Amino acid sequence: MSKVHVMDHPLIVHKITKLRDKDTPVKEFRELVNEIALLMGYEATRDLKLVDKEVETPITKMVGKEIAKPIAVVPILRAGLGMVDAIMNIVPSAKVGHIGLYRDHETAQPVEYYCKLPVDVDKREVIVVDPMLATGGSSVAAIDFIKQRGAKDIRLMCIIAAPEGVECMQKAHPDVDIYCGALDEKLNEAKYIVPGLGDAGDRLFGTL
Ligand code: PRP
Ligand code: URA
Repeated sequence: MSKVHVMDHPLIVHKITKLRDKDTPVKEFRELVNEIALLMGYEATRDLKLVDKEVETPITKMVGKEIAKPIAVVPILRAGLGMVDAIMNIVPSAKVGHIGLYRDHETAQPVEYYCKLPVDVDKREVIVVDPMLATGGSSVAAIDFIKQRGAKDIRLMCIIAAPEGVECMQKAHPDVDIYCGALDEKLNEAKYIVPGLGDAGDRLFGTL
């Protein structure tokens, strides 16, 4: 069974509260998503494996360490895009894949419209990013695609998760750990997270 890491660092909790506020304007919302993803990215990469790496300092040779496996960050479009820059800032060598999915408003089922992943994704540690894990349908489908391309080491980073989404992910992908900033109470009848923050994509891109 995969682990769920709730990253309740005070700065993350503080920023998520601002993100939830319905009066937070688009510009500030976007900045907050970036700042939260940066803080979460630092925590979510804490257990990456290292290998020895010889380095010559101005004084002497020594054996240091480097990240063992290259990284790919895969945002689920659209809202996941808001978290990419943060990961690229802390792991500039990462490659970026994109998976386009939207939830059908009637059925809440994910509909795929785009998938472009690094050719060597099977050799990379993959960090899937999406601010919201609601029913889990989008994340499960995105990770299905990534696994079809041979990737084995995958983790999911979301800002707010619902218990229903966590359960769905753990059933479908028990090998994928989930890193979230908050684990909320439930979904409502329209499958929105309660208390949540509303529609993350709309608030990020001003399409309300
Ligand atoms: C939102 C969110 C997730 C999905 C979560 O995207 O960014 O991708 O819903 O819901 P689920 O866990 O029930 O699948 P949305 O479908 O609104 O698309 P958008 O990012 O283009 O706005
Ligand atoms: N997608 C969102 O953007 N918000 C929710 O609460 C659920 C799905």
